[in-house]
Amino acid sequence: MTEFISELKRTHSCGALRVADVGAEVVLFGWVHGRRDLGGCVFVDLRDREGLTQVVFDPTVESDAYERAGAIRGEYVIGIRGIVRSRGNQVNPDMPTGEIEVSAHNLEVFSKAETPPFHIEDDVDATEALRLRYRYLDLRRRELQDVLIRRSSMVQAVRRYLVSEGFLELETPFLTKSTPEGARDYLVPSRVNRGKWYALPQSPQLFKQLFMVAGFERYFQVVKCFRDEDLRADRQPEFTQIDLEMSFVNEDDVLLATEGLMSAIVEADGREPPPRPFPRLTYDDALSRFGSDKPDVRFGLELVDVTAVVRSSGFRVFRDAAEKGGKVAAINVSGTDLSRSRLDSLGKEAAVHGAKGLAWVKVKEEGFQGPIAKFIDDETATGIREVMGASAGDCLLFVADIPSVVHSALGHVRLLLGKELGLVPENSLSFVWVTDFPLLEHDAEEDRWVALHHPFTSPRAEDVHLLEDKPGEVRARAYDLALNGSEIGGGSIRIHRPDLQAKVFRALGLSEEEQRAKFGFLLDAFKYGAPPHGGIAMGMDRIVMLLVGADSIRDTIAFPKTTRALDLMTDAPSEVDPRQLAELGVKSLS
Ligand code: AMO
Ligand code: AMP
Repeated sequence: MTEFISELKRTHSCGALRVADVGAEVVLFGWVHGRRDLGGCVFVDLRDREGLTQVVFDPTVESDAYERAGAIRGEYVIGIRGIVRSRGNQVNPDMPTGEIEVSAHNLEVFSKAETPPFHIEDDVDATEALRLRYRYLDLRRRELQDVLIRRSSMVQAVRRYLVSEGFLELETPFLTKSTPEGARDYLVPSRVNRGKWYALPQSPQLFKQLFMVAGFERYFQVVKCFRDEDLRADRQPEFTQIDLEMSFVNEDDVLLATEGLMSAIVEADGREPPPRPFPRLTYDDALSRFGSDKPDVRFGLELVDVTAVVRSSGFRVFRDAAEKGGKVAAINVSGTDLSRSRLDSLGKEAAVHGAKGLAWVKVKEEGFQGPIAKFIDDETATGIREVMGASAGDCLLFVADIPSVVHSALGHVRLLLGKELGLVPENSLSFVWVTDFPLLEHDAEEDRWVALHHPFTSPRAEDVHLLEDKPGEVRARAYDLALNGSEIGGGSIRIHRPDLQAKVFRALGLSEEEQRAKFGFLLDAFKYGAPPHGGIAMGMDRIVMLLVGADSIRDTIAFPKTTRALDLMTDAPSEVDPRQLAELGVKSLS
């Protein structure tokens, strides 16, 4: 008999055959998705990554193949040879191959399969823990296969686009020194240099800047980054960045290159490319209008500052906030009548973000209604209605506090209501740049200034003089890209002169010794001629998550970790042989 694989090569995938192929002899390989015995024949749905094809084993066609088909079960891996025939009036309109079937005359079982712990189907009801433990089975599901296939084409688009724009794909080390992206490092002990440690990169930040110093001009990499931080639905301990850096550029150059890149990704995923240029918002506007530095601009419901209007109002809470340098802002909810209990629960949601309350009034023809209405005089009420553009039937929700609390609490309420009221258009992609970030933010716990992005971000030239006395007012040449309310990228124009870098380090409270110990190599490099440069890094997993509409980046990563940073399949992290530890000169305290 002719042998499968060595002689009988696959002729088609399981998603390829159509009516036009009727009569052809074909060889298919794949997994048994399902098997039925009907009318004296064995029917098998054969699955590979491209699709499903119905295969029929008919005793009147080939009795030997039919006999052996009786023994095959779900998830067996088989090869078949047969003739494509029409299904006549048995067409299955739900299958792209539904008009044909293959009448098999040869069958080879490559391997048998035990009954899997869950069905390989789209509406799988197994727990995520079970699916992660058997990830290779979960990955057989159409849904996850599609995500990874789409991810692959997006990554290809990244490479095609950036190479066509003159970027070089260059690699940077994983065993390296700590880079300051603000999370904890994953450390790797050195056996050869006992007592010393490498850090896995939180990003290739310093190396990509050194590529610019070395004269490569345009660099990119699709690269793993490692951050030991508290995990959420959109964070993984190891994740993938599209990292890039460019020489002799300003903000516009990086932003436009990134817009081209994002359009190429969206197009590769088979969608309309987004309109360009992407809108831009300053950090201050993003916060005051949307309450977030990664604003979801797919819908309105914007925050409105009413501080000036309520400054002299009779409501103590508002007046106090206005007088003490705080802020009062509100959102105007129209087109729905929020119930008392919904208003109470929104108040609780606001409290999670630090608000001391969520005051509300309902706008009626005759004036404001609600528990605080009696404290608001007519003049103030008219003022509020004007700035809010409110009319009868609307409901206004207020938070009074320091600006950061007002923004995060009302921003959160805005997102909840946007979803609840169906204001978020489905399937739309809204990119927005956020620019003009502050360079530094004050860490209240440690009472010191820390970099909002990282310490290599350039301050705006006109703000450099503020570094010593008013560090909080210095604006950075930094930008973030948000998509549908998620931060998908961030970067900046960098510092390229040692004197300015030293000034920023001083503002961060880094002594000369610390500067040398941590970043001496970068400071040295800048002494030998560094071009002006800047770049950005995009979160690949988040981009895929948003484009495919997944709820978590776990669904976009082939082998992800749980929120406790566990790999349930390999059982990592795990204990190691004490001899390995001894060799490394490391003692475990737990
Ligand atoms: P940043 O720290 O903003 O910038 O990271 C860039 C983008 O990476 C994604 N990201 C993550 N995705 C999944 N899991 C995580 N734990 C995670 N952390 C970050 C986000 C983010 O926008 N070196 C700088 C870039 C530069 O300045 O060029 C950097 O790493 O989408
Ligand atoms: P109180 O005067 O504390 O009884 O509050 C009256 C109303 O104002 C309640 O609905 C509170 O939720 C609301 N409220 C209290 N503090 C604030 C605040 N800082 N911002 C917005 N509303 C508040």
